[in-house]
Order: sequence, then C-alpha cells, then structure tokens
Amino acid sequence: MSKSLRQLFLLTAYCLLPAACFSQTKLSVTDLTVEYMTNPIGLDVAQPRFSWKMISPNRNARQTAYEIMINEVEKKQYPVTGKFTEQEAKDLADLIKAGKLYSLSTGKVMSDKSVLLRYPGASLKPITRYNWKVRIWDEKGNGSDWSAVNYFETGLLSAGNWQAKWIEPQAQKDTSYKKAAPSPFLRKSFTSEKEIVSARVYATAHGIYELYLNGKKVSDDLFTPGWTSYNKRLQYQTYDVTGMLNKGANCIGAILNDGWYRGSLTWKNYRGMYGKHLGLLCQLHIIYKDGTDAWVLSDGSWKCTNDGPIRSAEFYHGEVYDARMEIPGWCASGFNDRNWNTAVEVDSSKNNIVAQVGYPVRRSEELQPLPFFLTSDKKFVADMQQNMVGRVRIKVHGAKGDTVTIRFCEVLDKEGNFYTKNLRKARNTIKYICKGTGEEVYEPHFFFTGFRYIEVEGLKEKPMSDNFTGMVLHSALPVTGSFECSNPLINQLQHNILWSQKGNFVDIPTDCPQRDERMGWTGDAQVFCGTAAFNMNVAEFFTKWLADMHADQDSCGSIPYTVPELLYRMRGIKKKCVYSTGWADAITIIPWTMYLTYGDTSFLSENYDAMKKYVELLMREAGEKCIFHGSKGFGDWLFYQAPQGEHEIPDGYTDQDYISTAFFAYSTTLLGKAAKVLGKEQDAKKCETLFRKIKQSFNQEFFTPTGRVFNGSQTGYVLALMFNLVNDEYRDKAVNFLVEDIKSRKNHLSTGFLGTPYICPVLEQNGRLDVAYTLLEQDTFPSWLYQVRKGATTMWEKWNGINPDSTFDAEETMNSFNHYAYGAIGGWMYSTVAGIKFDESAPGYRHIIIHPQPGGHLSHAMAVYKSMYGDIGSGWEISDGKMKLIVKIPPNTIGTVILFPTEPDQVTESGKYLKDNKEISSIKSERGYVQFEVGSGEYTFQYPVKK
Ligand code: BGC
Repeated sequence: MSKSLRQLFLLTAYCLLPAACFSQTKLSVTDLTVEYMTNPIGLDVAQPRFSWKMISPNRNARQTAYEIMINEVEKKQYPVTGKFTEQEAKDLADLIKAGKLYSLSTGKVMSDKSVLLRYPGASLKPITRYNWKVRIWDEKGNGSDWSAVNYFETGLLSAGNWQAKWIEPQAQKDTSYKKAAPSPFLRKSFTSEKEIVSARVYATAHGIYELYLNGKKVSDDLFTPGWTSYNKRLQYQTYDVTGMLNKGANCIGAILNDGWYRGSLTWKNYRGMYGKHLGLLCQLHIIYKDGTDAWVLSDGSWKCTNDGPIRSAEFYHGEVYDARMEIPGWCASGFNDRNWNTAVEVDSSKNNIVAQVGYPVRRSEELQPLPFFLTSDKKFVADMQQNMVGRVRIKVHGAKGDTVTIRFCEVLDKEGNFYTKNLRKARNTIKYICKGTGEEVYEPHFFFTGFRYIEVEGLKEKPMSDNFTGMVLHSALPVTGSFECSNPLINQLQHNILWSQKGNFVDIPTDCPQRDERMGWTGDAQVFCGTAAFNMNVAEFFTKWLADMHADQDSCGSIPYTVPELLYRMRGIKKKCVYSTGWADAITIIPWTMYLTYGDTSFLSENYDAMKKYVELLMREAGEKCIFHGSKGFGDWLFYQAPQGEHEIPDGYTDQDYISTAFFAYSTTLLGKAAKVLGKEQDAKKCETLFRKIKQSFNQEFFTPTGRVFNGSQTGYVLALMFNLVNDEYRDKAVNFLVEDIKSRKNHLSTGFLGTPYICPVLEQNGRLDVAYTLLEQDTFPSWLYQVRKGATTMWEKWNGINPDSTFDAEETMNSFNHYAYGAIGGWMYSTVAGIKFDESAPGYRHIIIHPQPGGHLSHAMAVYKSMYGDIGSGWEISDGKMKLIVKIPPNTIGTVILFPTEPDQVTESGKYLKDNKEISSIKSERGYVQFEVGSGEYTFQYPVKK
C-alpha cells in the first residue's frame, strides 16, 4: 500500500478511535456503554444492556470470560465531577459492604459476549445512579484489570413519579394557536438553604422548550423534547444541573415555542396538529449533603409573560426577535415578576410520557461564509460553501429599532440570484430588531432550515461575512464510518451523502430540511437506513423512531406515509388504512437492517408484532393469488423521466402493482427471517411457504416465458432480482435484459427511490460488477456524479434538480437539494468498493466479511467502520500490477477475507505466503476467489493482478 494510503488509513482509524486504543498495549476494556450510550442519565429501561470493547496487543484476541460489577450509588454521593475522591470511594465501599446499597457481581462468566448484555440483577430503582465496571479474560486465560468505573442513572421509570403539574402560560386563548405568537417565558424563584451535592431536572413540554437555571441554559440540546407521536409518546429529558444551583436564592425558567407540537406542519401549513396550548412539565430534584432532598415542581406558583423578545418563531418560517424587548435578569432570583401573569395548572396526561431515547439535536460545527456579493437584483448574498442545516449566528451594530433581515436558500438561479421557489410556502426568514447597545449577538432559538446561501438586508453598510456564522445542527449521533477512494468525485459524493444525513437526521429521519415538509417519510428512511448505519451510530435514533412507527400503525396493520403520522391528521382521514408499499415496508426493512448492523435482537422482538400485522395486511390485500391489483402508492418515486420535449430515452416507469407485489414478497422474507432469529419456527415456515407462493404467482403474472419483466424497467428487474423473485432459469436472462437497458441508455440508470439503492448490489451479485462501476462512475445526466459535477454539496431529491442547461427541473415547487434517498448508494461503497460486509448468521459484525471488489477506474479505496467491537478497516490499492490490502479486524471478532482474482500461493501477508502464516486459517480457493479466516489484528496482503 502506498505510503499515503496507509497514512490516510491510519489517520482515519485514529480519528474514529478513542485515543485510549492507541495508548493501550495490554489487555484492557474500554468504551463502556449502556444502551449504546456512555454514562447515560435519565434511562427508563427496566433491564438496560451493557457493551464494551476489548483492547489487546495480540492478533486473534478473543474474550473468553467477563465479570461485571454493578452497585447502587447513594444519592448524596453522586460525584459532582463524575469521579470520586478517595474518601467518597471508601464511604461507598463501606456502605456496600454493610449491605446498605444494592450491589451485584456476575462473578466470572465464561462467555465471549461483549455487546448488549442484559442487566442481570434485581429491579432498578428510579432516579438512582448505578456504577459499573467490567473485566475480561482473553483467549489465553489472562485477565484484564477492571475497567474505569462508568455509571448509568435511571430516570423516573414510571408516570407515577411525576409530582409536578402541567402548567400553561395564562395568556393563551383557544384560538391563539392559529398563528405564530410570541414565545412565552416562565419562571419560578426558590431557595435551597443547604449544601447541595447533586441536582437533576426532569422536563418536557407541549411544544418545544429551553430550560434555564439562574439565567443559564441547562444544556446545549435543541428542540427538546424532540418530535414523537406526542399524543401517544412524549419524551422527557433529564439534566444534571448540580453545578448550576446556588446555596440560597435560585431561579428556574423556561421559554416555550410551538415547534412541531402546534407550529406549521406540512405543505398545507396546518397549525395545532397535536394541541392548541403550549405547556411545561418539570421537576427539579435537589439532594443535600446531609442526605435530605427537595423538589421544585412546575405548578400554579410559576409566573409567565408573553412580552419577551421572541415575537414569533416557527421551523418553516423563521424567527422574529425584538432585542428591545429582552428582559434582563428574567431568570435571576432577584427579578421582580409582579407584573407577570400566573401560570395555570392543567390536567394534561402524563401517561404518555417516556424518557428520551438516544441523542438529542445539538450544534455540531460552525461554518464561515465567503465574502458577501451583490446579485444582479441588488441583494447582498453570501455563500456558506456547503448546503447545511441549521441557522446563522449574527453580530450586528445597529441603532435601536433597526431591523436586519436574513433569508436562506439552497441554490442561486441561472442568473445568480437568490432562489426560493423550491421552498414553497416556507418563508425561512429571520428578523432581528436591534436594541442599539453596540455589538449585538443573536442566534435564533426555535428555528432551523436547510441552506447554502444567506441574503442580508437592513444593514447600513455592506454585510461582513465574519459577522455571520453558519451553525450546523443535527441529532448528535456518533460518527462511525469514513470512506475514501481515488476518484475525487466519488469522495465528494460520500461527503454529500454524509451532509444529507446530518441535515435530515434532526430528531427524526426527514425527507428534506428546507421546504414546508421536513417530515418522517418512511420510504426515504427505509432506503437510506443501511447507508446511514455505516456513517453514524443510528441504533438509538431508529429505536426511538420505530417506537413512533408502532404508535402510529393503524389497527389494520398499515404504516403511515410519515412517522410521526401527519397526513391523515391533516386531511382528517378517518379510515386510516392508507399506505404505500415501499414506504410502509420501513417496518420490516429498518428493524432487519438494524439487527444486521448491531446484532441487536430487540429490533426484531420489539417490532415483530408490527411487522407481522403489516405482512398480514399485505396478504389480505393481495388476495388468494398473492398479486396486487389496482394498488395505490408512490411507486418508484422520482424515477428518470425524459426532460420536456426529449423522448429519445424512455422513462423508467415501473408498474405499481408490480412494486407492491415485490415488496409484499420482500417483507414476507424479512418477517420469516426475524421469526427464525426469535425462535418462532412456525411463523418462519409460514413465511417461507407464503414467499414461495408469491414468487410463483409473480413469475406467472409479470414475467414473459423468456425471462423478460413485463414493463421492462430497470427497477422492475432490480426489485425482482434483489428480492429473489426470478426463477433460476431466468436469472441470467433477466440480468442481461437489465444490462441491455442500461446500455441502451448509454450507461445511465433510470431508477427512482425504490430501485436506486439496489441497482449496484444486484449487478454485483449477478456477475456484472463492471456495469455497477460504470453507473457509479458515470458523471453525465442522470447519475450520482452528475449532481457532483453540477456543484452539489448534498444529495439532490431529483436526478435533474438542475438540468444540464442549468435550468431547474420544471416542477420547481418540489425540488429539494438536500434529500438523502439517492444517497443509498453509500452503503454499497462501504460494503463492495471498500469491502466491509456483515454476515447475516453472525450479525453486528461479530463475523466480518472483508471482500473488496475493485473495479472501474479506481486505483484505491478504503473504509473504516467503528463497530460495537472496535474498528474494522479495509483499504486497497492497485499499482504496478499488485493488489495491496490492509485489513483491520477488532478483538473478539472473526474476519473472513475474500480476494479476487488470485490463487492462495500468490498471496502474502506481511511478506509471508498465506500457507506459512499460522494466524491465517481455513484457506479456500474457488473460481479465482481466495477465501480465508483471520482473527483480530491488522494485516497487509499483497498479490499480483493482471492489468
Ligand atoms: C417527499 C418524499 C416522499 C414523497 C412521497 C415527497 O414530498 O419529499 O421524499 O417520500 O413525498 O412520495
């Protein structure tokens, strides 16, 4: 491997790895997590699951045993710094010894399990911290030291533990939800006389909230409590606020806003979708050094006002902030709130309240725009150089009452002017009214959008780009993957995919972040979830969203178009059994993909009933013959359509009934696989029988006797081949027809949302890797790299978002430049181009398949994926007729390496032939493929390849 590739490989691995991995040379345990999180607090899981990573200097390192110790921590001993002093640790040990605190040791358990081990002890108490540590034994029987002590802290665990009252700001009329109104401020002064050792606040809202203690925001989280199917599931957050309280006088405060709860949603801009009134529910728990505790609760003693500076704020439309109306000291204890109203206690439900799952939305990075320029229509515009999601923080000097207006857009038109038609009714506008006190700094509170360009109006002079900072925000998911290869356009494609994931993983997976939509479209998420899981750890993100999918599943088994469900609500549809195949199949595809990625069977057990109900619905709808007739749905959404007036290349249309029947078959397969994993043998058998029946009917109905699919679209062939619906005797023919179609389009695809994710995998799996690479490397319209060549920095919704002549697609009101669906190719780049694959029979990368498949014009490619066991790496380079491959396998896993085209006696590892290398086993060779097993470690393989 060239020096540069190796350096890059190590550098990337380094960036993704905790520094500990490099400094540790002896057997040790690191990266302890509970429910995928490091030291979580506010966890409402009855039996949380523990994971850790093994570090070992040895190749072939395996865990053979572990011991976990868990002990309850007395409340007054929660260490403020997160670490115990020696005295505290001793006191704690004494209490445990005396049996005053719950403690548990698993003893040495002979097991190689290191991921997602269920808590084995007695029921956990609410609002209690538990410390835990682990030690392990390796393949030689050597034991590690104990890991560092980590902790998890339970939340309220049940609705009965809410003592606080729901409160609403007094000045809310029943009609006030109809238009955006000022954001209410709420506050309450209180004293805490004694010395505080620990404090937590538990909070949620109807609407979104910012919570403050003594004038400071309690966290960097944004848009809490997040977006769920509120009427059924409303999240609360837990914050450690120990360091924010004073001994003596204190003040707790909150600002509320409409958010998703009652702000504009959908292209109809409906308001009050979930409720008409904003509300707050919060309780602060203070623990004193003397062992006593106190609660500060939301109740009718709180005061509130609507006269704050946030005059209106909405996700779609922006924020109006009048700095003249700021209320200095509003959240300080001495503040005089005599003129404020009294909050009203209301009897809203608490039964729907659940703890936050996973990571909330936070700011992730800051971008600085290029200098402002004057457009031909005389507006000052600046370019962030990246289509991003978030907002801007501004610095202004203005006279009292001066208004600075900032608008946002994704693209400039052909003339270079600010272009907002594709945002539809979303106004995306910030108005800041100066207080005139010198430099004023402002960032919106309750607004985000997708944009690359900003337009600024209202300043006396030309705006300076230094005064406008792009604040990027998204769900704060840990980055787990990186991909790089020798084609810079493909690297930009990877960048664009990642940025579309960032921008559309804002608490839920959305279709787009900028126009009046931003909803949890199920189809988009199902096609992208596999790619997303390479780029970031999405386990908890999808756990949360799938819970809402359940909540919104109709009793007939259908899954709505969007989750949280909005469209039936908006249209007042009573009979809700409305769904689209390819979208609703998110209920089978996402749990299965998550199971494969994380090896987490709870994705299957928790979703099994919902998956089954959905497949049963499809069975009823398809009828005895198992074929859909007259089904409705979005089809192969946004497949290639010839630009107006050009009919040389035909459209890529695929019949809806065909699609519905194909997805019926696929969901049946996945349900059957899930049943098998869960030990539901009978169900598994039923699914196999059902699948065979669907396949038979499908072949009779949709295939000609020569193996041609009846309407012959690429997506038609792709779905049939991917879902194993083509009878063996027709497989090669079907592949040839597909390839013929691609060739007839001068090596272009014509697929939409449903066909695109599978086209390269299908070609690869059927011996046409060459054509898959031709499509990946294609850079003329329509193709992935066409967008890149047109300057895209995120994925476009449409192949022709911008036409070759630089005009926009004719349907200008549906043309997002940040839509991840076509980015589903990313998974293939990791798994085939770089070659990191999971094994269905040992999921979660317990068994890793390293099978890089070089092709096209690429001379190198590499990927690093941070699995639950540790880093997996695969990086190859072909130069001077030699293939070099660096592989990294984490401890406690096994890798199977598959190389092509070569023979075993041609392959060396670190200079030694395979057969001479004791660390390499099960060497096999078949049709030019050499396959062998390796344990953990880093390996460098080399073999000659023909030019
Ligand atoms: C969304 C899509 C979605 C589709 C359904 C659109 O408006 O932006 O991404 O899947 O509707 O057809």
